[in-house]
Amino acid sequence: MELETQTAGALEQAPAQCGYAFDILTLFPGLFDGLRQESLLGKALQTGVVELATHNFRQWATDRHNTVDDEPFGGGPGMVLKPDVVVRCLREVRQKRPGAKVVLLSPAGRLFKQETAVAWAKLPGLILLCGRYEGFDARVEDEVDEVVSIGDYVLNGGEVAAMVIVEAVGRLLPGVIGNAASLNEESHSTALLEAPHYTRPREFEGRSVPAELLSGNHAEIARWRLRQSLQRTRERRPELLAGLDTRAWSKKDRQWWAEQTGEGPATKARPQRVAPGAPDRGAAAPADEL
Ligand code: ADE
Repeated sequence: MELETQTAGALEQAPAQCGYAFDILTLFPGLFDGLRQESLLGKALQTGVVELATHNFRQWATDRHNTVDDEPFGGGPGMVLKPDVVVRCLREVRQKRPGAKVVLLSPAGRLFKQETAVAWAKLPGLILLCGRYEGFDARVEDEVDEVVSIGDYVLNGGEVAAMVIVEAVGRLLPGVIGNAASLNEESHSTALLEAPHYTRPREFEGRSVPAELLSGNHAEIARWRLRQSLQRTRERRPELLAGLDTRAWSKKDRQWWAEQTGEGPATKARPQRVAPGAPDRGAAAPADEL
């Protein structure tokens, strides 16, 4: 059987240019149309830097009703995606994508994180299996490299999870985002959440842009951002501060942090925790930068 021709990108026209391929195995390929057409990723698809191909499981069904699911053995609600149909589809796609990682999306999977995106961006591509209904027959898992969840909640299917992965990985690929510096500054590129951003107008409904950002003093701006990052992380994601290393901080900053946390002078050295691929920024910024 032919690969479904729902491809965007230029693999057919210019295979040598196409650096990365996302193959989405789904019952609802139309859900990916928006992703193809809009955004920076859409542009990368048009130029052939990235390819996004969808494959409808239904095309690999063999009966006249194109059946893709069946009742679960042992009873219970919902339907289960048939292993024969899914595996036929997967094997055909996989055979055409040497080196691609096969990922099954499920709320019962390992958590997808920024570090996962960084690692997967180094591959030649991803084959993403999107489940619907009660999910896949368990034997499909024998054919995949990883089972991955995007978070501790249950979606109606894996398609939105696949889009999250395409976005997170796609934007790390050369030629997609265009501004490598902005990748490194972001939340989860470092161990801390990103500081808030402001643009014009300076005054909006009675709220002003913080004076530090208008000062033109780079050291002052850097210190303000670091402190905002720390405060934000402490408020919203305190668990990220578990391995915080304050050794390279100025005395003033250590004092400030001790006041924030109510812990007294923070002199204890602990190992720094930085996301893979991230520059050693933020909490470990040298004292003279602060
Ligand atoms: N399918 C349904 N819920 C999901 C989740 N949280 N992550 C990945 N795939 C899913």
